[in-house]
Amino acid sequence: MPVKTIIEPFRIKSVEPIRRTTRKEREELLRAAHYNLFLLPADDVLIDLLTDSGTGAMSTKQWAALMEGDESYAGGRSFDHFRESIQDIFGYRHVIPTHQGRAAERILFSVTCKKGDVVPNNTHFDTTRANVEFVGAEAVDLVIPEGRQPSLKHPFKGNMDVAALENLIQKVGRERIPLVMLTVTNNSGGGQPVSMENVRQVSAVCRKHGLPFYFDACRFAENSYFIKLREPGYESKTPKEIAQEMFTYGDGCTMSAKKDGMANIGGFLCTNHDSLALREKDLLILTEGYPTYGGLAGRDLEAIAVGVQEALHEDYLRYRIVSTAYLGNHIAEQGVPIVQPPGGHAVYVDARTFLPHIPQEQFPGVALAAELYLEGGIRSVEIGTLMFGAAAKMDLVRLAIPRRVYTQSHIDYVVEVILEVWKNRERIQGLKLRHEAPLLRHFTAELEPVEKVLAG
Ligand SMILES: Cc1ncc(COP(=O)(O)O)c(C=O)c1O
Repeated sequence: MPVKTIIEPFRIKSVEPIRRTTRKEREELLRAAHYNLFLLPADDVLIDLLTDSGTGAMSTKQWAALMEGDESYAGGRSFDHFRESIQDIFGYRHVIPTHQGRAAERILFSVTCKKGDVVPNNTHFDTTRANVEFVGAEAVDLVIPEGRQPSLKHPFKGNMDVAALENLIQKVGRERIPLVMLTVTNNSGGGQPVSMENVRQVSAVCRKHGLPFYFDACRFAENSYFIKLREPGYESKTPKEIAQEMFTYGDGCTMSAKKDGMANIGGFLCTNHDSLALREKDLLILTEGYPTYGGLAGRDLEAIAVGVQEALHEDYLRYRIVSTAYLGNHIAEQGVPIVQPPGGHAVYVDARTFLPHIPQEQFPGVALAAELYLEGGIRSVEIGTLMFGAAAKMDLVRLAIPRRVYTQSHIDYVVEVILEVWKNRERIQGLKLRHEAPLLRHFTAELEPVEKVLAG
């Protein structure tokens, strides 16, 4: 019988110690961080599941590629490697490097959108929404209804509601919609994939109305692997062939290379539109850098050129998707409410169901994230009322798994901590805001418990 255990498809060449703290120390640290885990020093975190963004481990091939970095200001060969590797997968005519995903978003929305415009997406990520709103446009989320029901299982909960897209175009008029976006996988909606069929349908609607169609491509490799696993007709295709097909249906993309670029920094903007690309490059020069480096070092371009290809390796993707599901399934089996099925890069705990005694205005997601830190030094992030304000459809706690960083015993520890918190959930209190910034408030907000905890 073939061996069934799926292992980490790498061995570890360099290690970074992590530090244990006592519960008493964590209580003090949490108070000092105003109950906002973004404000904690990373050295005081044992297992950091705050994000999968820029936190991955690079491969030996990526580290070797760094040495090939050409740091010329203009026309460096590292840009050629970067562009060739990206075009091989994405296929778009213009590849514009940026320092990370949000810089690509800012440039794209600045040149395409104006006040009064409307941008549909399955679900805008927080920086995407903020960048749309920053130019005075409205960000509209059109994920299928199944994508808003955490416990419901559906193979492609990230799909866009195509009828709702048609209705929106009829309602506001195509001239107010500068582009349509699809986020693969749908991060804010639970890391859920989008099917190739849905990509095709959204693309057809866009073509019919003459609307540009862009991908927010951060987790394109994970999305491709889910298509392989779950969509009939794609079983024998490679993740790379699937990604290549997916991108043929669009006109361009924004990308944070900190996710499926397998790099610690970087991003890019792609388009097939020549005159748009010129305007985007003008803006790039103003704030990011010359178009052959775009705010990145030549060595970063080399690491990304290797990373986007490695993200599509099938043994890596198998381990990635299986290990995330391992965490999700082990806590769900014990009754912990999670977004089902587990996403590609993260497990999302449904904090409203976990803590029914904490009302939405007392931030159940933030309260749960704080408790996971207190119990086991685990850092996670709320995706809910603190992040999106009144627009929040759910209050989730995201446990994002950095790529190639933690082993199965780390994940077993996380499972144990979550189950301990689940056992004692009635004792968890809500929080109230003491300070908030006008934009992206979750990064800097300061909170405190609604009632002061009595000693003992
Ligand atoms: C779906 C999605 N879009 C955009 C971004 C923004 O990318 P960056 O953090 O590189 O600016 C992220 C980052 O987490 C994301 O998950």
